[in-house]
Amino acid sequence: TPQALSGRAPQQQWSTRISFILAAAGAAVGLGNIWKFPYIAGENGGGAFILVYLACIALLGVPLLMAEVLIGRRGQQNPINSMARLAQEAGANPAWKNVGRLGVLTGFLLLSFYVVVAGWALAYIPVTASGTFTGLEPQAIGQRFDAHLEQPLVLIGWSTLVLLLTLGIVGRGVRKGLERAANLLMPLLFLFLVILVGYATTTGHFGAAVAFMFEPDFSKLTASGILVALGHAFFTLSIGGGAMMIYGSYLPPDVSIARTSMLVAVLDTAAALLAGLAIFPIVFAYGLEPGAGPGLIFVTLPIAFGQMPLGTLFGTLFFVMLSVAALTSAFSLIEPAIAWLTEKQGMSRLKASVLGGSGIWLLSLGTVLSFNLGAEWTLAGKTFFESLDYLTSGWMLPLGALLMALFTAWVMKPEITAYELGGESTGYRIWLLLIRFLAPVVILVIFLQAIGLIGL
Ligand code: PHE
Ligand code: NA
Repeated sequence: TPQALSGRAPQQQWSTRISFILAAAGAAVGLGNIWKFPYIAGENGGGAFILVYLACIALLGVPLLMAEVLIGRRGQQNPINSMARLAQEAGANPAWKNVGRLGVLTGFLLLSFYVVVAGWALAYIPVTASGTFTGLEPQAIGQRFDAHLEQPLVLIGWSTLVLLLTLGIVGRGVRKGLERAANLLMPLLFLFLVILVGYATTTGHFGAAVAFMFEPDFSKLTASGILVALGHAFFTLSIGGGAMMIYGSYLPPDVSIARTSMLVAVLDTAAALLAGLAIFPIVFAYGLEPGAGPGLIFVTLPIAFGQMPLGTLFGTLFFVMLSVAALTSAFSLIEPAIAWLTEKQGMSRLKASVLGGSGIWLLSLGTVLSFNLGAEWTLAGKTFFESLDYLTSGWMLPLGALLMALFTAWVMKPEITAYELGGESTGYRIWLLLIRFLAPVVILVIFLQAIGLIGL
């Protein structure tokens, strides 16, 4: 009968199941929930889109999240070494370790622009708190955001601050850094979200928002909307980028992967829906446009904050919450690289953080410049920022997820995966079916559509 592979020392693991859940929820709940989800739901007509999104999370997101956590938990090392170890255990081609490399690289590239967008959120805390938006014309608020993007040094300052905060936490290690921060920040994040939803119920347009989000109108659902929902299901659960693999590797052997993964998915979904319930009532109350696009949060919402009672207070709370969500995700994006540098290259955590952080900082300059001086440097019509976003969310995360699904479903021995998932129950068999057939087919369809081989 299978047994766990030799693992990390207990001090290098999460001290409780709850710590893992909060840290993994911290990785999952990010800009994707609060910035991206509301605007893509708005652009795609609301209810029907959200229903498809929920189905994607349940049928694909949760099984894939379990697969990624499983690889990490069994491998007990950084993504590259874990993949190498499990390939060897299965007697498979050692090249599978490239899946780990892909994960480390994806996290690295993603973080380089994630810190820039997180920097906007951080910058908007003092801007909102000082009452800048009070009574300001909608047009002036839009211009203010554009002006913010036009100043490279200001953007660099804020993204550097995000990166330093991230390294300050990650550099302290699993228990003193990641775990402590998650235990403090995640309850705070949900508290703020609930307060903001509570406030939104007083705007008189809460019912309209609920109807917009939960009354499906399938005539508004397009094929491309379905693909957006699918792609976002991976992004929002942090699947395919090595983040959940490294967090899984800090999981003690007796914790249920299925139960914790489901809870993480539930928390992530709750955060996205709560964000929608906080944002849409305000958008409707002030006659604004739910399909306003990426500016929904930085332009549309401040217009409302500038007009509503206590707008300065709740606006500030909103940007604090957004920054916290972004930070806890940033930790998980650099941790795979830090773990690899310390475990494989023998560096101290401090040295690894400085080195990894410097690389990300340099790359982030490309994203900063793509909003101003380098706005004209485009590749196939996309700026540097847009190209990185497209490459990572559109290709690298789904590719990582596909390879992890194929590896756990077809390469690892079923005895082993069953052992890690707590035995050959009905739940295990359903998981195996979804991960063997549904996940690979659906991801392939996404790819074929993306390269234009099938038209939707
Ligand atoms: N899930 C995060 C979000 O919703 C983004 C992320 C993707 C984080 C992949 C880590 C790894 O914002
Ligand atoms: Na998310």
